[in-house]
Amino acid sequence: THTTVAIIGGGPAGLLLARMLHNAGIDSVVLESRDRAYVEQRQRAGMLEQGTVDALRECGAAARMEREGLPHNGIELRFDRRAHRLDFPALTGGSSVMIYAQTEIVKDLVALQLDEGGPLLFEAQATGLGDGYVTYRHEGQEKTLTCDVIVGADGFHGISRAAVPSGRVYEADYPYSWLGVLADVAPSTDELIYAHSPRGFALHSMRSPTVSRLYLQVPNDTDPADWDDEQIWDELDLRFAIDGDWKLARGPITAKAVTPMRSFVTEPMRHGRLFLAGDAAHIVPPTGAKGLNLAVADVVVLARALEHWRRTGKDDLLDDYGDICLRRVWRAEHFSWFMTTMLHLAPGQSDYETRLQLAQLHRIATSEAAAAELALNYTGTV
Ligand code: FAD
Ligand code: DHB
Repeated sequence: THTTVAIIGGGPAGLLLARMLHNAGIDSVVLESRDRAYVEQRQRAGMLEQGTVDALRECGAAARMEREGLPHNGIELRFDRRAHRLDFPALTGGSSVMIYAQTEIVKDLVALQLDEGGPLLFEAQATGLGDGYVTYRHEGQEKTLTCDVIVGADGFHGISRAAVPSGRVYEADYPYSWLGVLADVAPSTDELIYAHSPRGFALHSMRSPTVSRLYLQVPNDTDPADWDDEQIWDELDLRFAIDGDWKLARGPITAKAVTPMRSFVTEPMRHGRLFLAGDAAHIVPPTGAKGLNLAVADVVVLARALEHWRRTGKDDLLDDYGDICLRRVWRAEHFSWFMTTMLHLAPGQSDYETRLQLAQLHRIATSEAAAAELALNYTGTV
């Protein structure tokens, strides 16, 4: 079979691109190695920038997000046993964010694609690619898809990145991970809480009015089975503690997983007619909630460039793709590194380093300029 755009990977980047291309009248085939249930259940991000929300709206994939998404106008920072709110619209000239889980975006895009779009093949693992073709394993057979363009949207562990021969990699690791849990309990807060504490970082997020999403900094290589529910709630209590009456409500924990933290960028994002998008090209540590948003931002630029190429036969926007994306990517790399290193306690960190973190947090809590810089980055307004 032949298609115009072969998309490797049915995560948010690949699915959204397929949707945008469909709307532009460009045919594509999506190859996804996992099964549908797996990609729809995989717990990941939850915070959407305004630009991400707009992209979902513009491509007609926002109906359920409008009903079920939770608009947020700020976050809370906790340190030194006190809480400080950042008011996003006031600090950014009107920007806000939306809480709507990646799992739900994926479900919405999969349903639309299967209903209206081109082929979306599950359990179809890409095994190789070259100029104008992708080979893949599907239903027990080796198959070949020929195409004009390949988009590598196959995440950090995919095969596409290796097909950019001149690729240069920039990366950093962090000496801590996140234990993330999902709990059947109403969130104990209206807005996300990012906490710096003497016991390490904690984050209170949410998925709905009845489901909370919580994260704890843990040592690398932690086995989630080492943490029982009681222990998790006790530790969250200690890290979110402030002077004053705030209480963390507990409930049954329904999912528990450990995520390592990594910064990673590969340049360029293109080789001939192969374009990398999303986690295939760049990874950020999760503290700034940028991973999913960057993936969507890449796809918006790429869809526009492919549409222009298809309509005019001209490559100029495709030529600009990587440079346009990488400016945003590096801004997000810096912001994610900044949030991560400001809020986590590295093993063996000196008291001096802790005081520097607190000095920065105090600055954000007391200076409108410092708070605005965080808010502009967080909302993706910069
Ligand atoms: P992915 O979602 O990784 O999608 C890639 C897809 O390609 C997958 O479905 C994969 O199965 C498929 N694939 C891989 N190889 C092949 C192949 N050879 N053939 C066919 N298909 C293939 N971001 C945040 O902002 N906040 C968070 O809390 C957060 N938590 C995260 C937790 C984890 C465990 C991970 C891994 C990421 C997390 N992220 C988070 C980042 C965010 O989820 C990603 O940035 C986002 O998923 C990127 O989307 P993507 O489509 O580029 O990649
Ligand atoms: C979520 C994850 C993040 O990394 C973050 O900064 C905010 C929210 C979440 O999963 O809800």
